[in-house]
Amino acid sequence: MHIKNASFVISNTNVNKCPTEQLPEYAFIGRSNVGKSSLINMLTNNKSLAKTSNKPGKTQLINHFIINSNWFLVDLPGYGYAKVSKKARSKFQDIIYDYFSKRMQLVCSFVLIDSRHEPQKIDLEFMQFLGENNIPFCIIFTKSDKLTKAQLPKNIAHYKKEMLRYWETLPTYFISSSVEKNGKEDILNFIHKINSDLQKPEPN
Ligand code: GTP
Ligand code: MG
Repeated sequence: MHIKNASFVISNTNVNKCPTEQLPEYAFIGRSNVGKSSLINMLTNNKSLAKTSNKPGKTQLINHFIINSNWFLVDLPGYGYAKVSKKARSKFQDIIYDYFSKRMQLVCSFVLIDSRHEPQKIDLEFMQFLGENNIPFCIIFTKSDKLTKAQLPKNIAHYKKEMLRYWETLPTYFISSSVEKNGKEDILNFIHKINSDLQKPEPN
């Protein structure tokens, strides 16, 4: 899929104030600093569309971006960031919990996992939460440039094995690097396929 235009629409703390257009929406979620905002910039060919930082906790709001005038990309705050207040942290912040519980336009979410790390409890719990709420998701293993060619498949195989302790089937997954611009085509084609299917008329 070719991205002709991508622009910022609105930032919100309240999911009820998010755009009301009935357009398919794709959200990027994961631990703070995993590379959500960088990935959005990579996908949209725009270095500064979403704000990034090497300090965790940069994205604090629900940020809507409209793509090709017909679908939304959503950048969200990270979870698991130790410096947010205890109350706000209650496993996942309220803003994240509310977004995933209430946002009807959400078609699929991408859970970003740092490809360098061992499976983390909070990510597994978050995917559990999505599963329990019937929210479709894929995994994106990020920062693949930081691993050797030999280590990357090992880490992914290990992650899959861990997932199979809780899941009967594994979600679709992608491997990305915002530095080397890897994974872009596969992720965009995946979104394009869903958007096309949604536009097909319902069978009688
Ligand atoms: P929060 O908004 O704080 O939740 O973080 P985020 O998940 O949006 O992460 P962000 O995109 O701001 O990136 C965090 C840091 O990781 C920045 O210093 C990025 O430059 C770096 N980073 C992101 N993606 C990659 C990647 O693919 N490879 C490498 N090497 N660094 C990356
Ligand atoms: Mg961010």
